[in-house]
Parts: sequence; structure tokens; C-alpha cells
Amino acid sequence: MKFYRAFIRIFNSFVLILIIGVVWVRVFDKDSLSFYMTDTSVGEKLFESRDCFTCHGIGGKDPQVAEYPHLNGQPSTYLHTQIKDIRSGLRSNGMTSIMKVAVDQVRDDELRELARYLNQVE
Ligand code: HEC
Repeated sequence: MKFYRAFIRIFNSFVLILIIGVVWVRVFDKDSLSFYMTDTSVGEKLFESRDCFTCHGIGGKDPQVAEYPHLNGQPSTYLHTQIKDIRSGLRSNGMTSIMKVAVDQVRDDELRELARYLNQVE
């Protein structure tokens, strides 16, 4: 009987820790949540409404100028960092200024959606 009670107590603790973990990720940790999110329709719409496709082509896979990069299928964390670095000026080479104008007004949460979307375009 004693063993049974101890078991229930430990089991309850695990359930409690699990619930706290899920709540934590849902409420505070948007980045790891996006790892589990598979809906990329928000990013897809942004890629159109923010005119990204005019240079990178539909889905980022058909650049209008041969020197412009392909975006589809690259790791979302890489894409996210690159867009942020271009926006902040940290990344700056001969072609970056062309792109910078396009991302100056894009919000941080939108960048994340864009990066997640482009990663999933095949
Ligand atoms: C006016 C043309 C133009 C528009 C519009 C544009 N880009 Fe770009 N983009 C570029 C060019 C040129 C580069 C290469 C910049 C460089 O070499 O530093 C680039 C680079 C990138 C990169 C880095 C890719 C890599 O492999 O390093 C990402 C990600 C990106 N663009 C996403 C976007 C998104 C998202 C939008 C829309 C918000 C957008 N771009 C709008 C021209 C554009």
C-alpha cells in the first residue's frame, strides 16, 4: 500500500511537470513552439503581400536575376538569421542594399513566419 501511494505521488509529479512544460512552451517560448507548427500559410501570404516574390520568384525558387539566391528548402534558422542581418545591416555586400529596402518594414514575427514557410517549399 505504501509503495502504491509513493508511486501515485511520483506519477502526479511527472504529470504536473509535463503540464507546466506544455504551458511554458505555449505561452512563453514562441520559438520552440514554431518547431511544432506545420501551418505555413501565413508565411506564404506574407511572401506575396511583402513583394518578396518579385525578386525571388514564387516560393523563393525562381530568382528573377541569376545572382539572387534561391530561398526554398534552406534551414529556417539560417533564413531567419540572414533576413535579420540584412535588415540590421550586419550582413552587407554588393547586393544586400537591393534586398534591405524590402525587409525594412517587416516585423520580427513576420520574419519567423517567412523563414518557416520558405524552409518547407520544395
Ligand atoms: C528587390 C529585390 C528583392 C526583394 C523584393 C526581396 N529580396 Fe531577398 N534578396 C535579394 C537579394 C539581391 C539578396 C542577396 C543579398 C546579399 O547577397 O546580401 C537577397 C537575399 C535574401 C535572403 C538570404 C538568402 C541566403 O541564402 O543567404 C533571404 C532569406 C531573403 N532574401 C528573403 C527575402 C524575403 C523574405 C523578402 C520579402 C520580405 C525578400 N527577400 C525580398 C533581393 C530581394
